[in-house]
Formats: sequence, structure tokens, C-alpha cells
Amino acid sequence: MKKLYFGSNLKMYKNIRETMDYLTKLQELTTDLDRDEITLFIIPSYTSLDRASWQIDQNQIRLGAQNMCWEERGQFTGEISPLMLQELGLQIVELGHSERRHVFGETDEMMEKKVKAALSHGFTALLCIGETGEEKDFGLSDEVLRKQLKVGFFGLKPEDAKNLWVAYEPVWAIGVNGKPATVEYAQEKHHVIKETLKELFGEAGRQIPVLYGGSVNPGNANGLIVQPDIDGLFVGRSAWDAGKFDELIRDAIKTYKDSL
Ligand code: PGA
Repeated sequence: MKKLYFGSNLKMYKNIRETMDYLTKLQELTTDLDRDEITLFIIPSYTSLDRASWQIDQNQIRLGAQNMCWEERGQFTGEISPLMLQELGLQIVELGHSERRHVFGETDEMMEKKVKAALSHGFTALLCIGETGEEKDFGLSDEVLRKQLKVGFFGLKPEDAKNLWVAYEPVWAIGVNGKPATVEYAQEKHHVIKETLKELFGEAGRQIPVLYGGSVNPGNANGLIVQPDIDGLFVGRSAWDAGKFDELIRDAIKTYKDSL
């Protein structure tokens, strides 16, 4: 049985009070779910992280940051240092979300530096990758995904694999204007990703979980989670109500177990 990953990035939506209400409720609702079978993680705003890290049991809900600078200190106005995130006892750093790449101009070369900084500071690096609609239309999706992985993980060793996660989030599938990838398309791209990880890390590459994200919802989550190369779901809008996220997770776990 594969371990299942469920997580959400809260983007720039919830303030501190809303985040704490959400996390507390999600922790209560999911407390009976066996953490040997699933990993649950939430990536709130920076301003919520301090309180969240005190009040939330990270054995239940792992916490992460939405971004991180590759330098420890310096003239980087508006950035957040790995040392500052370390102070909070976080486990995960999300890097290269589509909005970082496409709204704020972050590049694969920056990802390479950020991933290395995340690993050297003891975080799990969650690297987000995905092709744009235009790249897909030109038939370039596989090349784009391979490049994002090969540059983002450049120079890493097989022993680094245990601290890497990947989220495949096609840019055209994300957010209010997004259209979810079909289950077949998602599985096909996850297969490309898994093969590339094997190429980069050998057998160790197999232990890197690859999550699908982009308009995951109660209608497609079960179809996605049973795919052989999909290890988890990285959910936006459909996760931001704790009760609904809990239901989506339970449904997906049941569907996956029934499929075995
Ligand atoms: P969405 O967001 O589920 O709202 O499309 C996904 C994401 O940006 O990770």
C-alpha cells in the first residue's frame, strides 16, 4: 500500500485567526486518521506560521512555508530566510508554485538554489512543476517537466531524495479559471515525472512522492488517487473548508483502499 499525501497551500487567503480556526478544526476532524497511512500538511501565510507552529501538533498536520529565499541573510527586502523558517520548527518549504513562477517571475535556476538551501537547512523541499497551456498546446509538456526537474534538482545525490517531494500542477489547471486535468492526462505526466526522478536519483528516486494539484475537487479526487503514479493530492480551493477537506480525504482513502 502506498502512503497517501494530502495537503493544501492557503495562498493569500486566511488571516491569523481564520488560519488557526481552520487548522484547529482540521486537526480535530482528522485525528483518527492513521498517520502511518497518510501525511497531511498545510502551508499557511507567513504571518500565521508562528502561532500555528506552537498550537498545532506537527505529527498530525505538518506545516510548511509558501516560499523561501536561498540566502540566509542579506539585502533581500521582502524575502524570508531559511534561518527564520528554522526558528519556527517547520518541516516543509514549498518552492516554485505556479504563482511564484508566473506572477513573480521565478525561474528554474532560482529553484535550484532554493532546493539546495531547503535541504541544507533540514527542510523537505516541495518543488512544484507544471507546464503552461501554451506549452501543452505545442506538445512540450514532457520537455518542460523534465527541464523543471533536472534544473531544480541539479547536482543532488540519491540520499537527498528522502527530503524531496514533487507537486505536478499544470498551470492551466490551477485556480478559478483552471480546468482540471483528466485523470488519464495526470497519470501520463506523473509517469514522465517518476521516470525522470529515477533517471536523476536511481532507485532512490522512487521514494519521492509526486502529488497532483490543480482544481482537485470531490468529483475528481477519487479517480486521481487510485492512479499508480499519483501519491497524493495538493488541493487549493476544495481544501479551504476544514469539513469539506476532511470529507475529500476520507473519501479518497476509502476509494484507494477499495481499489487494492
Ligand atoms: P486549486 O489550487 O485547487 O484552487 O486549483 C491548486 C494550487 O494552486 O495548488
